[in-house]
Amino acid sequence: MNIANKTVFITGANRGIGRALVNEALRRGAKRVYAGTRSALQNADNRVTPVTLDVTSVSQIQRAVGEVVGPLDVLINNAGVAIYDDLSNLDVIEQHLAVNFLGLLKVTHAFLPLLRRSKGAIVNNLSLAALAALPVIPAYSISKAAAFNMTQSLRALLANQGVKVHAVVLGPVDTDMNRGFDIPKASPESAARGIFDGLEKGEEEIFPDSASQSIAEGWRTGAAKALERQFAAFVQQDPA
Ligand SMILES: NC(=O)c1ccc[n+]([C@@H]2O[C@H](COP(=O)([O-])OP(=O)(O)OC[C@H]3O[C@@H](n4cnc5c(N)ncnc54)[C@H](OP(=O)(O)O)[C@@H]3O)[C@@H](O)[C@H]2O)c1
Repeated sequence: MNIANKTVFITGANRGIGRALVNEALRRGAKRVYAGTRSALQNADNRVTPVTLDVTSVSQIQRAVGEVVGPLDVLINNAGVAIYDDLSNLDVIEQHLAVNFLGLLKVTHAFLPLLRRSKGAIVNNLSLAALAALPVIPAYSISKAAAFNMTQSLRALLANQGVKVHAVVLGPVDTDMNRGFDIPKASPESAARGIFDGLEKGEEEIFPDSASQSIAEGWRTGAAKALERQFAAFVQQDPA
């Protein structure tokens, strides 16, 4: 899908990768970018519509859907939290699941009617930690693994309805989220370019940075991807 002239909704759009995605969508000629944020957002570009959105609030999600005027082509589920833990505190696990998993699913459900109408796309910003646990942030890893698994199911369930579902398998990116991690990181701007490049190429899994690209080929030709296709065939042979 080409972003030029398209309408895009991005959650967590006020900083980090979300903000870079807003700017990259504008650079690629998006017609309108809805920027979902928890606090007020300023953007000089008149193609940006700020929308108040905490992804854990069902009422805010419903209001956000109502603020979209006309068709919506792309939903980017970007909002996320990451807290260092050691799995000893169940509240921390619940917090991650509420935002990174259930929040993402609630937002997706709410926007689905619009995306079905436009035969649009859902882009879920996930992580290498979805594919293998990063044990310094295990609760985060669990939430991203759950969201990755959900993305695979949504892809199969929505295939007959013309809605494409993409998983972004992000490596480390230089944002507030991983300030404490002293490792090589991609810039948010280059990650955003990689995400839209992958979307424009129609990649099911998008590997937008050099760390994630290093496993792209292995993932695409591996047993887990082959199994995903095998399992998805059950849905596609017998549509609901
Ligand atoms: N940075 C990395 O290395 C990395 C790696 C892999 C995956 N990712 C993923 O990429 C996405 C963006 O991460 P980032 O690095 O840009 O993080 P970030 O700089 O910490 O920004 C997180 C964004 O999510 C928003 N957010 C958090 N909880 C929310 C909620 N309940 N409702 C709505 N918005 C909420 C934040 O809003 P506030 O400003 O209001 O808090 C902020 O806009 C996340 O899903 C993250 O898991 C990042």
